Amino acid sequence: MDFYNFRLPLLIILAALGCCSGSSPLATDKINGVVGKNVTFKTTVVSTPDILTVTWTFNKGQPIAMVTVIPSSNTVSVRPPYVNRISCNRTTFQLQLGPLVKEDTGEYILTIVTNNGDLVTGQIDLEVLEPVTDVKISSNVLEPVEFNSTVVLTCSAKGSFTYKWINGSVPLVVDGTHMQLNAVGNELKISEVRRTDLQGPIVCIAENALESGKSAPFNLTVSYGPENILMNQFPTDTYLKKGSTLTLTCTADSNPPATIQWVFNGVNLPSNAVSSPANFTLNNLEEKNSGNYTCVAYNAQTKRYIASRVAFVTVVESLSGTNISSSTSLLIAGNSTVNLTCFAAAGRAETVEWVKDGKPLNPDSRIVFSADKTSVSIDKVVKEDRGEYRCLLRNKVNKDEASYNLKINYGPEKVAVQGKHAVKFEDDVELSCTAESVPPSTYTWKLNGTALNSSQQVYVVKRAKDRDSGIYTCEAFNNITGKMDKTTHKLAVTTDGKEDTGLSGGAIAGIVIGVIVAIIIIACIIKRKKKSSLDVPSPY
Ligand SMILES: *[C@@H]1O[C@H](CO)[C@@H](O)[C@H](O)[C@H]1NC(C)=O
Ligand SMILES: *[C@@H]1O[C@H](CO)[C@@H](O)[C@H](O)[C@H]1NC(C)=O
Ligand SMILES: *[C@@H]1O[C@H](CO)[C@@H](O)[C@H](O)[C@H]1NC(C)=O
Ligand SMILES: *[C@@H]1O[C@H](CO)[C@@H](O)[C@H](O)[C@H]1NC(C)=O
Ligand SMILES: *[C@@H]1O[C@H](CO)[C@@H](O)[C@H](O)[C@H]1NC(C)=O
Ligand SMILES: *[C@@H]1O[C@H](CO)[C@@H](O)[C@H](O)[C@H]1NC(C)=O
Ligand SMILES: *[C@@H]1O[C@H](CO)[C@@H](O)[C@H](O)[C@H]1NC(C)=O
Ligand SMILES: *[C@@H]1O[C@H](CO)[C@@H](O)[C@H](O)[C@H]1NC(C)=O
Ligand SMILES: *[C@@H]1O[C@H](CO)[C@@H](O)[C@H](O)[C@H]1NC(C)=O
Ligand SMILES: *[C@@H]1O[C@H](CO)[C@@H](O)[C@H](O)[C@H]1NC(C)=O
Ligand SMILES: *[C@@H]1O[C@H](CO)[C@@H](O)[C@H](O)[C@H]1NC(C)=O
Ligand SMILES: *[C@@H]1O[C@H](CO)[C@@H](O)[C@H](O)[C@H]1NC(C)=O
Repeated sequence: MDFYNFRLPLLIILAALGCCSGSSPLATDKINGVVGKNVTFKTTVVSTPDILTVTWTFNKGQPIAMVTVIPSSNTVSVRPPYVNRISCNRTTFQLQLGPLVKEDTGEYILTIVTNNGDLVTGQIDLEVLEPVTDVKISSNVLEPVEFNSTVVLTCSAKGSFTYKWINGSVPLVVDGTHMQLNAVGNELKISEVRRTDLQGPIVCIAENALESGKSAPFNLTVSYGPENILMNQFPTDTYLKKGSTLTLTCTADSNPPATIQWVFNGVNLPSNAVSSPANFTLNNLEEKNSGNYTCVAYNAQTKRYIASRVAFVTVVESLSGTNISSSTSLLIAGNSTVNLTCFAAAGRAETVEWVKDGKPLNPDSRIVFSADKTSVSIDKVVKEDRGEYRCLLRNKVNKDEASYNLKINYGPEKVAVQGKHAVKFEDDVELSCTAESVPPSTYTWKLNGTALNSSQQVYVVKRAKDRDSGIYTCEAFNNITGKMDKTTHKLAVTTDGKEDTGLSGGAIAGIVIGVIVAIIIIACIIKRKKKSSLDVPSPY
């Protein structure tokens, strides 16, 4: 005790005077320690027999001796406050102090006194740092809105340190405008925050010379949008069939997801606003569903709206049950006029086309279309007007057609009898009468102007007799047109079945000879007349 009291002031004074100073016996003149941990003051000397005493002193305003080593007696005396806190190496005199408290910060002096009174001193400054704990990142706003919010992240920690920021896996770089760090470096200010800015994750590192602490990875959701709104229509057609289904889908980029409101002709549809992506389906479309549709996306967090493009749809009833009606069912060639009208049981036609027997029906002086072409009037029908009439109706969503078979009553025309003109006595013969006629004509037969008891088209003569010869007349009668036409056919019943010309072979020969004789006679008379005129003497 006395020893310390006596020696220390002297040594301090000597050290302060710089007496006997050479190179420092200490490895460094500055060292950091952490509360609760140990620190070691390293020396550059080793014990020699020359050394009398080695003393470590803590100088905080007032010097306090900590430990004295006397190599010759191999003693190490630790002063009371430092008992159990110090270990001093007898060979190198290096000192381990700990566990450290904040108050251990200060100057430590090593004083070596040699046997011949020389003094070697060294000084080391200890800074005791608080350990780094509780490193945390906090944000001034919890629900930042893209472009609107200025986010300030504050890194806090317990202990002594400087700060570093990591974004993802790389050091965070600030540009000084969009992102700024304060002088201390614990505040990161992000103006007009972007959606990707805080996805990092961002880590704050608080560190001092001895230690560092990391915050938990920090990320914050930045609300954004809605933007890039996209509306799709299924099916994509502008004109939709009545009764069909229309589906509209709407999506928008937004965080949190936008709510979608459907708007029809400028009026909100009553359906509850739903979260994006949203579908809107209209089943069993009616004409009143025609109009323009849009969707509007709304982000409750950013309080921003965006409207989609407009989908314009028109609901059209499809054509069905198309039929052709005729004004008159019974048409007589040359007498009747008919109106064919084409109509659909459902749907309205935009265009009407008429086709007859596969070819377009063209108007002419007798064939006249109504202005809307739904009816065609045929005046004074002729038999060529008969045939298949088709009408084709079209509108924006479909087409339909109907056909009608137009029948014209006409005739009889071209009445003709087929059969032999001569028949052998006792043979059978058939005479067949034909006529062009709609409906088919009824036939009556006459012989030599006398009615025969037959209304058949074919008249049969069994075992022909002479009295069956004569002029046969076939009369065709159309009971609808009320017209009758007839023709005759001559039949001869002969012994050989050959046709009788009416002159015998002898008669013909006689006629021929007679003609020749007459010519010769005429020729002779002319010759004679000429000769006699030559014989007459001239009066001159
Ligand atoms: C710190 O020093 C004390 C006293 O010298 C000692 O008991 C303890 O074991 C040391 N701790 C470490 C970690 O070296
Ligand atoms: C003292 O230090 C020396 C050299 O570093 C070492 O060899 C020795 O073991 C230490 N003695 C004690 C008691 O720690
Ligand atoms: C972190 O990195 C991402 C990707 O490189 C970047 O978009 C973002 O702005 C960065 N955030 C900060 C705060 O630096
Ligand atoms: C950060 O993002 C991860 C996934 O990328 C997530 O698991 C975690 O909860 C987020 N943390 C915060 C604070 O948002
Ligand atoms: C949508 O419909 C409304 C009402 O029919 C009309 O006034 C408006 O001009 C239409 N807008 C568009 C873009 O067609
Ligand atoms: C919305 O409609 C689309 C296309 O028809 C379909 O793929 C999707 O599954 C629908 N979503 C919902 C939620 O009904
Ligand atoms: C965004 O900023 C504008 C003007 O700066 C303000 O009117 C609006 O209310 C802000 N939006 C939100 C969601 O804070
Ligand atoms: C067309 O109308 C006629 C008479 O009005 C009717 O008999 C016929 O069945 C109809 N055809 C169609 C396809 O409706
Ligand atoms: C033909 O038309 C006239 C008048 O146009 C009519 O008096 C006559 O009865 C018609 N004939 C038939 C067969 O319909
Ligand atoms: C045919 O239709 C037209 C109108 O399209 C009408 O004026 C005319 O009287 C009709 N004729 C007949 C014979 O029905
Ligand atoms: C019809 O006339 C022909 C000759 O003119 C005659 O041969 C025939 O007997 C006559 N037939 C009847 C039934 O009068
Ligand atoms: C016309 O003649 C046919 C067949 O000969 C017959 O069935 C029909 O009743 C007749 N019609 C009239 C109006 O006389």
